[in-house]
Amino acid sequence: MGEAACGLERERMKKKAILLAGGAGTRLHPLTKIVCKQLLPVYDKPMICYPLATLMLGGLREILVISTPKDLPMLRDFLGDGSHLGIRLEYAEQAEPKGIAQAFLIGADFIGNDGAALILGDNIFYGKLDFFREALAIERGACIFGYQVRDPERYGVVEFSPEGKVVSLEEKPIRPKSPYAVPGLYVYDEQVVENCRTLRPSARGELEITDLNLLYLRQGSLQVRLLSRGMAWLDTGTQTSLLEAANYIATIEHRQGLKVACLEEVALRMDFIEQHQMQRWIDRLPKSEYRSYLQLVCEEDPGSVHPEP
Ligand code: G1P
Repeated sequence: MGEAACGLERERMKKKAILLAGGAGTRLHPLTKIVCKQLLPVYDKPMICYPLATLMLGGLREILVISTPKDLPMLRDFLGDGSHLGIRLEYAEQAEPKGIAQAFLIGADFIGNDGAALILGDNIFYGKLDFFREALAIERGACIFGYQVRDPERYGVVEFSPEGKVVSLEEKPIRPKSPYAVPGLYVYDEQVVENCRTLRPSARGELEITDLNLLYLRQGSLQVRLLSRGMAWLDTGTQTSLLEAANYIATIEHRQGLKVACLEEVALRMDFIEQHQMQRWIDRLPKSEYRSYLQLVCEEDPGSVHPEP
């Protein structure tokens, strides 16, 4: 394929991203009385770094961060405009908790005529992200995922027929029909905003992401891919699962001497920034273990072999 055609191809498949850091985090009270859930530490960095790293590793560089009026300023303070990461971060408020699918209406102008991926600010994925990159390459319809968990009733649940076809999708069912939870990572084509406009609020007054997915299912354009058990999709919804997630990250990081979801490292390895830009950023950071790690990453020979971040 010629260079021009390649560019065209990329243009056609363009996707923006939404990072939704909503909710009051009441289940984690009093941890979340002052600090929003997505800024709580997961071992050595705030939680939001993990989903943001996932988007960046998918190659997404235009990202809208949506949060409550109370929490948005703190998130903006922490992440800035993204220029130090070679990405563009924009911010928008979700004035009231009116559902995950409302994010696409809030972000309608930002999305424009492109497709969009959405990740929830408390979802942590660890492992090979090919499943996400493949989903981002789809041209038509939507792609969501399924992941086996012990307690599916806490999530959206997808049921398959013996032939592997999606039979049902239910939000937090009392009696789950399968062990497959739907993680908070979704990919949609450019119809997403229009489709959201046709949704009606659920009994709890929210535009449900499950209803949006059901709409795509009825249109015959929903793909559900199961994540392999080699992937980790970690829960951060309770005090215990938050601690477990932190321990998981600490274990991996200690073993390898590599950081998980280190945004500056991801930016460098994805070629979003160059070494000299990273050095300028490092020079402004306080002396810390994190800074020393970044310095090591920055000084590494760019031609050296390194594992996928
Ligand atoms: C939301 C979605 C649910 C999904 C989950 C993943 O639930 O409604 O379908 O499985 O995120 O984290 P929430 O965490 O907002 O209760």
